Amino acid sequence: MRKLGSQIIVMKFKLDKRKIALLIVTLLCVVVSLFAQAQPFFKSHKSINPYQYEVVKEKSFNNAAVTSAHPLASMVGAAIMQDGGNAFDAAIATQFSLAVVFPGAGNIGGGGFMLARKANGELIGIDYREAAPKNASRDMYLDEKGNPIQSKSLDGASASGIPGSVTGMISTHNYAKLPLALLIEPAIELAEYGFVITEREAKGLNSEKANFLKNSSAPSAFTKREWKSGDTLFQPELAATLKRIQQKGLAGFYEGPTADMIVNEMKHSGGIISLEDLKNYQPKFRKPIEFDYKGKHIISFSPPSSGGIIIAQMLKMIEPFKVETLGSNTIESVSLMVEAQRRAYADRAEHMGDPDFWKVPTKTLISDAYAKDRMKDYVPGVAGSSKITLAGQVHESEQTTHFSVIDMEGNMVAITTTLNDTYGNKTIVAGAGFLLNNEMDDFSVKPGVPNMYGAIGGEANSIVPGKRMLSSMTPTLVTVDNKPYISIGTPGGTTIPNQVFEGLVNIFDHKMSLKAAIDAPKFHHQWIPDAIGVESDFPEATINALKAKGYTVAKRGRFGRMDGIMILSDGKRNAAGDKRGDDSVAGY
Ligand code: GLY
Repeated sequence: MRKLGSQIIVMKFKLDKRKIALLIVTLLCVVVSLFAQAQPFFKSHKSINPYQYEVVKEKSFNNAAVTSAHPLASMVGAAIMQDGGNAFDAAIATQFSLAVVFPGAGNIGGGGFMLARKANGELIGIDYREAAPKNASRDMYLDEKGNPIQSKSLDGASASGIPGSVTGMISTHNYAKLPLALLIEPAIELAEYGFVITEREAKGLNSEKANFLKNSSAPSAFTKREWKSGDTLFQPELAATLKRIQQKGLAGFYEGPTADMIVNEMKHSGGIISLEDLKNYQPKFRKPIEFDYKGKHIISFSPPSSGGIIIAQMLKMIEPFKVETLGSNTIESVSLMVEAQRRAYADRAEHMGDPDFWKVPTKTLISDAYAKDRMKDYVPGVAGSSKITLAGQVHESEQTTHFSVIDMEGNMVAITTTLNDTYGNKTIVAGAGFLLNNEMDDFSVKPGVPNMYGAIGGEANSIVPGKRMLSSMTPTLVTVDNKPYISIGTPGGTTIPNQVFEGLVNIFDHKMSLKAAIDAPKFHHQWIPDAIGVESDFPEATINALKAKGYTVAKRGRFGRMDGIMILSDGKRNAAGDKRGDDSVAGY
C-alpha cells in the first residue's frame, strides 16, 4: 500500500512537474513574444517600430533624407545617417532592408546599379547587374523549332542570372563610414523579429502564392498563410542568410551554405547557376553618362543600362523645340516627346548591350549632332511611324525599385535594383529565404522577339556566358553650378527612361515641384509596338487629340514608382515618394 501509495504520489508529483514545466515554457513563450513585440527595434533608434509605422509622402529635412519603396527601409537609412553614417552607409542599409520589407523587388537575389556623386564631385558607377551563367547559350530559351519558350526565361530558376546585389553593396561599402555588420543588422532584425505588412504587400504575396509553391523546391515564409494587412511577416531563413553575409562578407553569399542552397535550388526548375558562377561574379565600375540640359548637369547610368543614353538622347532631341512653352501633358508637348522616345528606343534595340561584349556607340548616340540629325524628319503635329523611323546609322521589367539618398555633406546616391518581374522568377531559395531574379528575360532571346516588356533587341543584346543583359534602369543625379541638386529614379521596365525623362522635363521646363513632377501622369512610347501607353489618369483631351492625329493610344494601369530628393535653395533636402505605391520618405 505504502509502495502503491508512494507510487501514486510519485506519479502525481511527476504529472505536476510536467504541468509546471509546461506552464513555465508557456509563460516563457508569452514573455518572449511580448518582449519581441515590445522590443525597441533599434538599440540606438528606439523610435523605429516595425509593427507600427506610417507612409510619409513628402517632407523637407534639414540635414539628410532617404526616399524608398518602403517606410521601414527609408527610416533605416535615415537612422543610419543619424548614427554618423553617410549616404553610402544609408544606401547599403536601405538596400538590405528592402530585401526584407519589399520582397517583390528589394533583393539580394537580383542586381542593380549604384550611381553616386561624392560631395567632392567624384562620380561612382557600380554595375552589379546579373550576368549569364557559364553554361548559358544564345538559343537556350528556344524550342527545337526555334520558337521562344517565354516561361523558361521568366519562371523558375532557369530564368535566373547570377545575382549581383551583395557584391554591389559590399563594393559600395568602400565609400561608407560605418562597419558593414552594423549596416546589415537592421535588415536582420526586420527579418528575425518580423514587421507588419501593408495591404499592397499582402495582396502581392497572396496573388503569387501558387507560383511560389510551384517554382520553389520547398514552402517558404511567404507561403505560410493567406496574408492580410497588419499581419506580421517573419523570415527566419532570410535572417540566417543575412547573418552569414554579416559574418563572412562576400563568402557568406557567394560561397558556403548560401551558395550551396542556391545551386541546390537550380535542380528544381532547370537552373544552370553553378558554384563557380557564384564565386566568379564581379561587380564592375562604369563611367557614368554625363550631359547638360538647359543649365543643369545630368549624370546617369551607362551600359549595360540603356537608361542614361536614352534620357540624354531624348532631352537633346527636344531641347531646340522650347518645350517650356508647350505645357505639361498637352498634345503639343506629348507628340514632340513621343517622337523623341520613338527614335531613342529604336536605337536602344539596335545599338545597346553589355559594353564588355558589344561596342556601344555611346559618344555618338549622346552627341548634339546626332540628336539633331535624328529629329530632322520630325514634323510638329504629325504622327510618326515606327515602320519609317528605324534605328539611326552610327559609326562607332515592370518591377524594380529605386531609392535615393542625400546626406548632410552633399553626397548623393541613386540606386535602382531589381529582380526583373515582381518577385522575380517566383523561386524562393530553400533554406535561404530569398527570391531569385528572372533577369535572363532582359536578354534578346531571339532577334526581333519581344521580351516581357515588349522590347525587342538584336545581336547587341544576345545571350553569351558572362554577359550582362541590357537594362532600362536609370538612376540619375543632377547638379547645378557643380553643386548637388537632385537624386531620382524609378522602377517600370522599359518605361523607366521615359518616366525619368518626363519627370526631369516637368521639373526643368514646367517648373513643377519634385512631388508634382513625380505624381504627374506619364506616357510611354518605345518604338515597337508603335503605340503610346498612358496612365489611367492621363488627360482625356490629350488622349483624344493624339488619336485624332493618328496615334494609337492605350491606357495602362500605372507606370513605376518614382522616388527622389531635391536640395532646395535654403539647403533643405526635399524628399518625395511616388503616390503610386507605399513609397515613403525619412530624414532628419
Ligand atoms: N529588369 C528591368 C531592367 O533592368 O530594365
